[in-house]
Amino acid sequence: MHRATRLVLALISGLALLTWAAWEIVHRTTDAWFQKDVSLRAELAVNGARRSLTQTWNDRRGLSEVLSDIARDERIMGAEACAADWAPLGKSHEFPSRVSCAELQGRMATDPGALREGRSLSVALPGGDVHVAVVPVYSADSHLGAVVLVHDLSYVVRREGTAKGYLLAAFGFLAAAASVLSFAAFRYSWRRWSLELGRQLSGAAPRPEFRPLLRDVRSFMDRVLSEREAELEAGDWTPARLKQTLRRHLHGERIVVVANREPYIHQRGPNGEVTVQHPASGLVTALEPVMRACSGTWVAHGSGSADRETVDSNDHVRVPPGEESYQIRRVWLTREEEQGYYYGFSNEGLWALCHIAHTRPAFRASDFDEYRAVNQKFVDRVCEEVDTDDPIILVQDYHFALAPRMLRQRLPRATVITFWHIPWPNSERLGICPFHQELLDGLLGSSILGFHTQADCNNFFDGVDRYLEARIDREHSAVERGGGRTLVRPYPISVEWPLHWLEGLPSPDECRREVFEELGLGADALLGIGVDRLDYTKGIEERISAVERLLESHAEFRGRLTFVQLAAPSRTVIERYRQLNESVEALAARVNARFGSDRYRPIALLRAHHEPPRVFRFYRAADVCYVSSLHDGMNLVAKEFVAAREDERGVLVLSRFTGAAREMPEALIVNPYDIEEASLAMAAALRMAEDEQRDRMRSMRAFVSEFNVYRWAGRMLVDAARLRRRERLRLGFEEATR
Ligand code: F6P
Repeated sequence: MHRATRLVLALISGLALLTWAAWEIVHRTTDAWFQKDVSLRAELAVNGARRSLTQTWNDRRGLSEVLSDIARDERIMGAEACAADWAPLGKSHEFPSRVSCAELQGRMATDPGALREGRSLSVALPGGDVHVAVVPVYSADSHLGAVVLVHDLSYVVRREGTAKGYLLAAFGFLAAAASVLSFAAFRYSWRRWSLELGRQLSGAAPRPEFRPLLRDVRSFMDRVLSEREAELEAGDWTPARLKQTLRRHLHGERIVVVANREPYIHQRGPNGEVTVQHPASGLVTALEPVMRACSGTWVAHGSGSADRETVDSNDHVRVPPGEESYQIRRVWLTREEEQGYYYGFSNEGLWALCHIAHTRPAFRASDFDEYRAVNQKFVDRVCEEVDTDDPIILVQDYHFALAPRMLRQRLPRATVITFWHIPWPNSERLGICPFHQELLDGLLGSSILGFHTQADCNNFFDGVDRYLEARIDREHSAVERGGGRTLVRPYPISVEWPLHWLEGLPSPDECRREVFEELGLGADALLGIGVDRLDYTKGIEERISAVERLLESHAEFRGRLTFVQLAAPSRTVIERYRQLNESVEALAARVNARFGSDRYRPIALLRAHHEPPRVFRFYRAADVCYVSSLHDGMNLVAKEFVAAREDERGVLVLSRFTGAAREMPEALIVNPYDIEEASLAMAAALRMAEDEQRDRMRSMRAFVSEFNVYRWAGRMLVDAARLRRRERLRLGFEEATR
């Protein structure tokens, strides 16, 4: 039974009890009063007629007349005179037959003084109780007998009935008023209490009276959730499991990804043919398998020369070609927009700001205007793609720092999961950007904001702490601002497992044979590789310098080691990238001039876009892969290399300034600036015994297979599901208490 109903029932019962007690008291008291009153009246009536009575006492007719006079009073039903021995002497007309002298004598047999002293009693008659008063009659001092007066008590009953009616009405009124009042008071205080509890549960500053309850509720929820999370995270993550998670825990079939780079670029070739290109991008490497698993829409810049020709009337194109499990929604940018938003603010500004790689960031207000406008343009396109008011939207990378807030304004109930694929600067560096507050606020429109490492999360918290009005909940790794709450967590990104690019690829031995043939290498040659976009953060110059130093200090590798740099041209509109291109070329030429010959080229700089199957052939063929980033959020080349080596051979030399180095200590970890150290690590890698290669590779492969990209996405979706559950609970709670 509802607590309010129970309270009201208890109140009514109490009131009923009180009314009954009041009635009993009133009833008994008034009864006694009436009895007394009637006895007095009887005495008065008899005393008033005493003279007539004594004169006619022995005259039956005269006495009966006197008695009839007395009985004229409307409340006296009759009067009878009894002699001192109870013998009837006379009576008024219509005296009730059941109350005769003889009958009274029987009743008062045990009361010898009754006739002399007078008594009164109630007698039940068929028409109701009557009051009988026995009033003694004296003449001088001699006792003659008594007059018996019978009073009608029905008026007492009537009056008591009326009083009872009033009392019941008063009770009814009081009970109704008390019920209404207590119900209203109960509802009011319950509502206030539950609203307050809701507020406290959603993170408001705890009030002392709620603390014990909140502690209990939170520890219960945390226990349940951590059990659930452990259950959700345990075991292998596969595309099927990711899809199931999305369906079961987020009740969604589709997700919407917002990312600048599209996973499939349609290019028109020199002979007019249209080809599909897979861009060199860690973001695409990670997200594309997730989209294939989950289906949905990827909203991206249509940057290919044949992109416009390959979309339908809604700018959609279904991909992957031949499989078509999701769609790309292409967004068209003008030259000015691309210049300001992509080259300008994103890459000359934010990219340089977030990477410690000694390239000055450039911030121009006009670029930021384009950046804001393009973020809005993408948000508009996203809103056209969603079909519910609480969609799941994955915002990707530094190109869209403002989009989460814009999405929150348009779709307040959306689950916005933002992932920042590059490092986040410390607050000193962040302050260099004139628009740092807008960037922080924009990102705090997200439900979840993910970085690769805890260090990046800490830097973000420090920036918020320093530059914004917000509450940082470090215990739960969240930021609250303007009524919203953003979970800030590390989600180290990864690659798919198994890699679909390996399907149909020759065995590692066969790949090695093919690559050696392409490069014209002898059977005893050694192959090192580097795979990157031509970007100054990748430490390509330092890498070539390390190879140079290796050849300088280790004569055994001269003529044997070929280091292939697969370098995808990138952002070539920007001056710094053009410089890099030139300096890498010059450096490679220098090393080749120093240590090469007609038939031997130590550095093979292959500057072109290389499609993934070709890249994976090189991964499989190599003895060593050197990832020398000066600063890198994660670096998926390192993980791709590991995933490609099903033969458990090959050695990874890895910069300590990558996120990957924290996860794969089995690689040979180096400081890429320390050319000597890096060259020694490469020498050690080239000499490493097969057993040791296998042990290291096996351990790294076990890690990457377990912590694959499905787990990365799955963890974010599980966290999002938890947020949505909490949000639903909160809304339900508010609804129930309204
Ligand atoms: O690793 C991810 C990433 O570095 C992104 O941050 C970047 O956008 C992308 O790869 C490649 O750059 P772009 O899209 O400018 O070619």
